Amino acid sequence: MSDPVRFLNTFAQTLSVMTLYPEGHPSRERVIDAAFEDLDALYAGGQLPLFTFLEGEVVYGRQPLRDLRGWEWSARLAECGVGRLEFERRMTRDEFEGFLQEIQVRLTHASAGTSAQRQMRDLGVRLGAVGLDLEAVAVTPSDPAAVTGLREEVDTLHWMQREVLDGRAIPMLEAEAVVRSLTLAMHADSGMLLPLLQLKEFDQYTTTHSLNVSVLAMALAEALALSPREVRAMGVSGLLHDVGKTRIPLAVLTKPGKLSDEERLMMNRHPSDGARMILQSDADLELAAVVAYEHHIMLDGGGYPAMHYERGCAFGSRLVHVCDVYDALSTRRPYREAWPQDKTLAYLDERAGTEFDPFLVQAFSRLMREGAARVHRLDATGTPPAHGQQSPGGGRV
Ligand SMILES: [Fe+2]
Ligand SMILES: [Fe+2]
Repeated sequence: MSDPVRFLNTFAQTLSVMTLYPEGHPSRERVIDAAFEDLDALYAGGQLPLFTFLEGEVVYGRQPLRDLRGWEWSARLAECGVGRLEFERRMTRDEFEGFLQEIQVRLTHASAGTSAQRQMRDLGVRLGAVGLDLEAVAVTPSDPAAVTGLREEVDTLHWMQREVLDGRAIPMLEAEAVVRSLTLAMHADSGMLLPLLQLKEFDQYTTTHSLNVSVLAMALAEALALSPREVRAMGVSGLLHDVGKTRIPLAVLTKPGKLSDEERLMMNRHPSDGARMILQSDADLELAAVVAYEHHIMLDGGGYPAMHYERGCAFGSRLVHVCDVYDALSTRRPYREAWPQDKTLAYLDERAGTEFDPFLVQAFSRLMREGAARVHRLDATGTPPAHGQQSPGGGRV
């Protein structure tokens, strides 16, 4: 019988028994067998087992497990950094035992090394903290070193955009290098999520926006416990989502006021242009191309480009879409002030289920509220910005 509560109880019991008996002891073997069987039964339920351990609550898939409200193991697991447990494939009995040993190591030494985490990945188990470790990404907005640290990335991205503008391929190695250094900045001890940066040059708006979306996408991906590789893939997708805008004349991008029909058509082509440019530059960047193509498509199918048949957008596109709109609305434009965080989050929330994926809005909201004091986006204050789609709330992205 597929029963997540039963599995977790056996799982916890197994971890306790394992501390009492050495490897090979019949009691230990028996209880591991039982947990393995219970896990196996979960696969039979048709979905890959996914547990999230929140404060005093356990969620299976998206279903809170009432019976386990206040379960002490939830807090214990969360405390040692296991906020989420996702079994991506069936394990062998030996692999399962190895996995239990790794959890045990984590429980006894609060933080397991990266090699242990890598081993987990090899086992097809994904685990991680829910939410960003905000202590580790605290921001010191006034820290000039932090700002100087990103200046190089801003310049590189700016240079990349000029390359594309001159008709050359997107410099993918540089894009990946920018994303790698953004992740390093996010995780540096004295680090930052996003420093406050004043950019005066108007054509750097898209640069700033792309860096912001890249970091926000990575922060959200990380909060959802995606693997470091997937997090970086989201970073590259965020960085390149608006690359199609380099084809739009600056006069149109920076035009204050309403766009003409012709200019609007030009603007609405940036997703498909961007996707084509990415694929022509590097066929391996399929995800970034898909995200570039889909980032203005709403959950209910609205937005652009128009879809020829009804289908859901890729997870990455839905994720970047949330970060994209958040950054656009939080930025000052000639026709409106920057929206405060509460207003922007309320906007996302209102449209969760129609424009945005509600699960992602919820996770994003939690991430931003938790980090409110420390998280700062790059700020292009005083910058006449580029224009994009007019969204229903008056934000252009
Ligand atoms: Fe866009
Ligand atoms: Fe955008």
